[in-house]
Amino acid sequence: MDKKNIDWSNIGFGYIKTDKRYVSEYADGKWDDGTLTENDMITMSECACVLQYAQTIFEGLKAYTTKDGNIVVFRPDLNAERLVNSAKRMEMPVFPVDRFINAIEEVVRANEAYVPPYGTGASLYIRPYMFGINPVIGVSPAEKYQFRVFTTPVGPYFKGGVKPLTIKVSDFDRAAPHGTGNIKAGLNYAMSLHAIVTAHKEGFDENMYLDAATRSKVEETGGANFLFVTKDNKIVTPKSNSILPSITRRSLITVAKEYLGLETEEREVYLDEVKDFAECGLCGTAAVISPVGKIYNHGEEICFPSGTEKMGPITQKLYDTLTGIQMGKIEAPKGWIKVID
Ligand code: PLP
Ligand code: COI
Repeated sequence: MDKKNIDWSNIGFGYIKTDKRYVSEYADGKWDDGTLTENDMITMSECACVLQYAQTIFEGLKAYTTKDGNIVVFRPDLNAERLVNSAKRMEMPVFPVDRFINAIEEVVRANEAYVPPYGTGASLYIRPYMFGINPVIGVSPAEKYQFRVFTTPVGPYFKGGVKPLTIKVSDFDRAAPHGTGNIKAGLNYAMSLHAIVTAHKEGFDENMYLDAATRSKVEETGGANFLFVTKDNKIVTPKSNSILPSITRRSLITVAKEYLGLETEEREVYLDEVKDFAECGLCGTAAVISPVGKIYNHGEEICFPSGTEKMGPITQKLYDTLTGIQMGKIEAPKGWIKVID
């Protein structure tokens, strides 16, 4: 299979249209068989539920070319399960886990020419999503839905690759207690747009959101969970019911324990104690682990000892081990890697 003529090592995190996408439609209480299509356009009513009331959820995962030339996907079963949870919370129909995994396989196979070659640092980002499509004007869930999957080759999410980020403690809240912060709904991202544009205007790479109830505990950023390293090399991750259960973060905890022999702790993390950590990183599918060098909190600067030039040593080990597993250089725990034949 000839690869597309793309400068793989220099692409950023943007949209590049690929050849095929998957679509399945839901009507009269059931999903149709689903199909691949070349048509990247969607036609819908001006009153479609997704347009009026933002009834839309999504997922994000990646396909990689491994050292020995296989194309693999990382833990798609967990994305399928998370989409089920998002659908239930948003009063949308569940797309079955096995069908989700088959759809991912089909789309990746059909876009093989866009899966970046091994060693380029790029990957094929896979975006499954679902939305309510029939006209809805009184506030209620839709009756018709589409589940779709498209792909786009991507490089690093943050410009500058693995150079430590500078982030600010946001004055805006991301998710309410008992709200939708723990699911992957488009609405969580819509309401973060003003906050991210504001942060960028002020020269920051990202926002740190605090818990909306007390504004004293660390939640997450707009697109990744936090991971901290203590001065005695323990991994600490914030526990909260209003953050997204990151698959990368959960995988890194296993990597820390099982591969690196590190102690890990998931607990509430207070903003006041952040200054005592040795390293800080943002973890997610898009972010992988992006190191944080500095956090700005209303006039106070928290500078991590790992500095602003390179990743801290523990973050680097976590990064190397996780990406080593994804690229087939290090043996993966059972069930983590799905080979696309
Ligand atoms: N938190 C938010 C708000 C996200 O959008 C993402 C990205 O999916 C993550 C965390 C990381 O989750 P995952 O590691 O499953 O990609
Ligand atoms: C992902 O990491 O897959 C996400 O959905 C984050 C998004 C902000 C790009």
